[in-house]
Amino acid sequence: MTTQILRRDWLETVVIRHVRKEDLPALEWDGEFSHFRRVYAEAFERSQMGYSVMWVAELPEKGIIAQVFIQLICNRKELADGIKRAYLYSFRVHHDFRHQGLGSRMVNNVEKDLIQRGFQVLTLNVAKDNLDALRLYLRLGFRIVAAEPGIWSYVDDKGIRQIVEEPAWRMEKNLYL
Ligand SMILES: CC(C)(COP(=O)(O)OP(=O)(O)OC[C@H]1O[C@@H](n2cnc3c(N)ncnc32)[C@H](O)[C@@H]1OP(=O)(O)O)[C@@H](O)C(=O)NCCC(=O)NCCS
Repeated sequence: MTTQILRRDWLETVVIRHVRKEDLPALEWDGEFSHFRRVYAEAFERSQMGYSVMWVAELPEKGIIAQVFIQLICNRKELADGIKRAYLYSFRVHHDFRHQGLGSRMVNNVEKDLIQRGFQVLTLNVAKDNLDALRLYLRLGFRIVAAEPGIWSYVDDKGIRQIVEEPAWRMEKNLYL
């Protein structure tokens, strides 16, 4: 995606919507995230079963410029239990569109949707060295509740299991405060 002159009111024209199957290639962001191809395909299958919600922000004439995924239920009940707690992950805004309020708007959109679904707490993990994201989450009302070793693995687009170690803070926000 190349940088271009944007309308001053570009943020007003952004549409936040659910991921469609045909969006999956665009989530690889011109190859930067191709290694997550299988992860995204699996997440999409889970979203079709109602276990997760995948959001993207689309700018007309530009395409997808941001994403955030929500687990409604997973095997760690302190993160997502299918009833009260949901887990935010895979959140990113394209470099060219950061620091203009889109990320905050996407989190606000997620919160409203979860309240409508009856959820009460939004959880997430943020890498300890990701100070920009940590500051954003604190400003949005999340608080640190635990330290996480942040060790997880995935199978990449070539079928090779990759292990990630990313010490993190677990954060959560009460959606009713
Ligand atoms: C984290 C991330 C999603 C935030 O997206 P974003 O669109 O930049 O978020 P916002 O614009 O809402 O907020 C970012 C900052 O810009 C500021 N900002 C928002 N609108 C602004 C405006 N019009 N003018 C100037 N600053 C503005 C916000 O106050 C915020 O400041 P803060 O960091 O001091 O709290 C984005 O930086 C990103 O994709 N990072 C890489 C991936 C990542 O780290 N994801 C999180 C994993 S846990």
